[in-house]
Amino acid sequence: MQLPFNGAISAYYEDAAPAEIRNAIREHGKDKILSRSYPHPERMSRKSYNKEMAKLQVELVKMQAGIKQSGDRVAVLFEGRDASGKGGTIKRFRENLNPRGARVVALSKPSEAEQTQWYFQRYIDHLPSGGEITFFDRSWYNRAVVENVFGFCSDDQRERFFRQVDGFERALVDDGIKLFKFWLNVGRAEQLRRFLKREEDPLKQWKLSPIDIKGLERWDDYTTAIGETFERSHSEAAPWTVIRSEDKRRARVSAVRHVLSALDYENKDISALGSVDTTICGGPEIWD
Ligand code: ADP
Ligand code: AMP
Ligand code: MLT
Repeated sequence: MQLPFNGAISAYYEDAAPAEIRNAIREHGKDKILSRSYPHPERMSRKSYNKEMAKLQVELVKMQAGIKQSGDRVAVLFEGRDASGKGGTIKRFRENLNPRGARVVALSKPSEAEQTQWYFQRYIDHLPSGGEITFFDRSWYNRAVVENVFGFCSDDQRERFFRQVDGFERALVDDGIKLFKFWLNVGRAEQLRRFLKREEDPLKQWKLSPIDIKGLERWDDYTTAIGETFERSHSEAAPWTVIRSEDKRRARVSAVRHVLSALDYENKDISALGSVDTTICGGPEIWD
C-alpha cells in the first residue's frame, strides 16, 4: 500500500532519529513504558482500566445531566505535542454523552478572513452555552506553540497573545465558565513509536500531517515554546493541568477524574471517582 509522505516517519527513524531514541524503541518492544522518568514501570492493565473507566463513564453521564439542570458551562481544552493522545482522550470523555451537549471543537488553520480578526475571535463562537461541555482539540494556544515553532506567526503576534491570554481566560472564568486546560505530555521515544504505528495503520494515517513530519526535527523548539507557555499562561484563574501521557490508559483516567473531581453535580459519587494520581497529573512542575 502507498504510504503517505513516502514513509517519511520510518526514514526519520532509520536515518535521523537520535540513537538513544531509536534504541529505546527497538529494545523495549511493544508494551513497555519508554520514558525513563515515568513513575510507573508498566502500563495500566486493560482490566483495571476498563473497571475504572466504567465507573467514570457513569459519573460523566450524571455530570452531563447535572449541568443540563444547572445551566453550567464547561470548556475543556486539550493541548500537547502531536500524538500525545488529545483525540483519544476526548473520545473517551464523549463516549456515553449526548453529543448535542458535548461538542468537539477542532478548528483548522485560520482562513484569510480569520487572519484579519482579533486572534481569539474565532474561538469565541465555540464557547459552551448553558448546559454544554465543549472539548477543544487544540485551542488558542496554537499561537504559543505550533505557530511559533513553524513561524506561522510573528514574534509580535505571539507577544500580544501572551499579553492578552490571561485577561481573556480570566474573563471566561469570571463569567462563570468552568475552564480546564490540559497539557498532555509525551516523551520523544513514545511520540516516535506512535508515529511509526500511524504510518503503518491504514485507519490511522489520517492523523499524520506534514507538520508532524517536520516537527520530528523540531523537538527542542517545541520544548522551549512549551516551557514559555507554562511560564506565561499558568494562572490562578486558569491553571494548566499537565498529564504525563506515556501510558494512554492512565492518562485518560486521570483527565476524566480531574474534571469530575472539580465539578459539582447532583448524585456525585466521590468513591466512584477514585483519587487522581498526582505523580502523572498535576501542575507544570510535573512536566519534563
Ligand atoms: P493535528 O495535529 O491537529 O491533526 P497538524 O499537526 O497538521 O494537525 O497541525 C497542527 C496545528 O497547526 C493545527 O491546529 C493546524 O490548524 C495548525 N496549522 C497548520 N498550518 C498552519 C498555518 N499555516 N497557520 C496557522 N496554523 C497552522
Ligand atoms: P522522555 O522522558 O521520553 O522525554 O526522554 C527524555 C530523554 O531521555 C530523551 O530525549 C532521550 O534522550 C532519553 N531517553 C528516554 N527514554 C529512554 C530510554 N528508554 N532509553 C534511553 N534513553 C532514553
Ligand atoms: C492524538 O493522539 O490524538 C494527538 O494528540 C493528535 C495529534 O496527533 O496531533
